[in-house]
Amino acid sequence: MKKIILNHKMNLTVSEIVNHIDKLQSLKKDIIVCPSSIYSKMFIDNGFSVGLQNVYCENEGAFTGEISPYQANKLGVEYVLIGHSERRKLFGEDKIINKKIKKALENNLKIILCVGEGKGENAKEVLYKQITTALADVDANVIIAYEPVYSIGTGDLSNDIEDNINYIKSLIDTEVLYGGSVNSKSIVQLNKINNIDGFLVGSASLSIDEVTKILEVVC
Ligand code: PGA
Repeated sequence: MKKIILNHKMNLTVSEIVNHIDKLQSLKKDIIVCPSSIYSKMFIDNGFSVGLQNVYCENEGAFTGEISPYQANKLGVEYVLIGHSERRKLFGEDKIINKKIKKALENNLKIILCVGEGKGENAKEVLYKQITTALADVDANVIIAYEPVYSIGTGDLSNDIEDNINYIKSLIDTEVLYGGSVNSKSIVQLNKINNIDGFLVGSASLSIDEVTKILEVVC
């Protein structure tokens, strides 16, 4: 069964979340929701598998504004996205990704490690570096989300997704998801690529109509 991860990023009001919970429940499909962390418990209490969009690399202490993997686990969070390109770019996270992964694993969170090259970069070189750096001394299963940076939010699907996912699978034996402009239209083509084990959906996850159509194609 292919995994579908909904990444709301920093969007939706609490009343919109109530509506999403209601509508997504009626779809009765296995999905993993990554809402703004402040809404996590609402999804957990309604029986959803929840992922955070980020956690910090310490369990507790004087880290104002950060999210504790220990607290997340106690709340019932199951997954965490680590290394999303927006976190790498806007928050300079490359250096602490390995520490974050280790701390999240210590707290029994399942990792979805986001990797992907920028426009004009050599995909395989970037993927090799990001994966080996992130997983140095990590001896546990980690899911990979392959997200070419220039495909995120742009509709640009020019990348050789199948070839790059094969390369990732030659480095690490795990599930590889694809993310970047997945929507009700692109999913028809993307779902034909054989080596994709699931999808990470950003902007389209904000529309129940889009999510419904994506699920109809994939599940
Ligand atoms: P997108 O975002 O679906 O809006 O391209 C994907 C992501 O950032 O994970």
